Amino acid sequence: MTDFPKTHELMRRGAEFLGTEHAILCGAMSWVSERNLVAAISNGGGFGVIACGAMTPDLLDAEIAGTKELTDKPFGVNLITMHPDLTDLIAVCGKHKVGHVVLAGGIPPKGSVEAIKGFGAKVIVFAPTIALAKKLFRSGADALVIEGMEAGGHIGPVSTSVLAQEFLPALAEDHLVFVAGGIGRGEAIAGYLEMGAAGVQLGTRFACATESIAHPDFKKAFFRANARDAITSVQVDARLPVIPVRALKNKGTEAFNVKQRDVAGKLDTEELAMGEAQLQIERYWAGALRRAVVDGDVENGSLMAGQSVGMVKQEEPVAEIISGLMAESEAALTKRG
Ligand SMILES: Cc1cc2nc3c(=O)[nH]c(=O)nc-3n(C[C@H](O)[C@H](O)[C@H](O)COP(=O)(O)O)c2cc1C
Repeated sequence: MTDFPKTHELMRRGAEFLGTEHAILCGAMSWVSERNLVAAISNGGGFGVIACGAMTPDLLDAEIAGTKELTDKPFGVNLITMHPDLTDLIAVCGKHKVGHVVLAGGIPPKGSVEAIKGFGAKVIVFAPTIALAKKLFRSGADALVIEGMEAGGHIGPVSTSVLAQEFLPALAEDHLVFVAGGIGRGEAIAGYLEMGAAGVQLGTRFACATESIAHPDFKKAFFRANARDAITSVQVDARLPVIPVRALKNKGTEAFNVKQRDVAGKLDTEELAMGEAQLQIERYWAGALRRAVVDGDVENGSLMAGQSVGMVKQEEPVAEIISGLMAESEAALTKRG
C-alpha cells in the first residue's frame, strides 16, 4: 500500500523504467547535480542524475564512484553530446554499469546510443520535434524528456504546456515521455500524468535543497526571486546563433552580451570559425555558472533558474520536497474523484 495510490498508478511505467519509488527525475544541473544532491534525490525515492557538463573522464569516474558510496539506489548520468570526449565518458559509465544515460545538448552523434546500449544501460534523450523523437526511438532511445522554455538553463522556444499537448497524444501511449520545465507543484505533475506522461523532471525546485552544495548566496538569490526575474538571454548578433539561457537577471546578463559582441567580432576578422565561436559561448556559460554556484558570485556569475523559482522560498531537505510534490499531486487527483 502506498500513501499516493492514484499518483503511483499513473507513474507506474515511469517508476519501473527508472527503478524508483516515484517517477520524478531531478534534471542534471551543471555544478549543482554532484554526488550529494544526486544521492539525496535517489535516496528520497526520486531519480538523481549527475551533470557531467565539461568534466573530464577521470572526474566523471570519481563522481560516479562517490555517488555510489552515498546511495545504493539507481541514478543516471547526463552527458552533453558536443563534449569532445563523449566516447570516453560513455566508457566510464560502462565501467560503473550506470543504468541510465541521458544525452543532452543536441542530436546524439552516430554510434553513441549503440555504445550506451552495448553495456546494457537505458538511453534517455531530448527532442525538439515529434519527427526527431520518433527517429530517436527507432534508433534505440528508451525514453524522451520534453522540456519547455519555462525551464532553467539552456532552453528551446516552446512552452511546456504546448509541448505536452503536441507530444503526449502522439507518443505517450507507445513510448515513455517525461515532462520538464516550469513544474513547481504536484498539481501540475498530476495534470501531465493524466495527459499520459510517464513522469516528470524538475530542476529549479531541487537546486536549493538542503543537500545541494550550491553556495548560500546562490540559494538566497533563488529564495528572493519571482517568476518574472528568470529571464532569457538575447542573441545580439544575427550571425552568431546562441542557444537561449534562462537565468536570474544580474550584471552577468549584460556581461554575456559583451561576450557575444566580442566573439562576433572575432568571426568578422576570421580569428574564429563558427564551431569554435559557439564552443566559446558554451564554455562561457559553464564558467559563469560555476562562479555563481561554487564561488557565490551572484552579481557576475550566471544564476540559471527556471520560472518556477518563485515557488522556491526556503531550504528544504530533498525528501520533504519530493513528499510534498507527491502529496499535492495525490490531493489533486483525489479531488477529481
Ligand atoms: C542551474 C541549472 C543548471 C542546469 N544545467 C543543465 C545541464 O548541465 N544539462 C542539462 O541537460 N540540463 C541542465 N539544466 C536543466 C535541468 O536539467 C532541468 O531539465 C530543468 O531545470 C527543468 O526545468 P525547471 O528548472 O523549470 O524545473 C539546468 C537547469 C538549472 C536550473
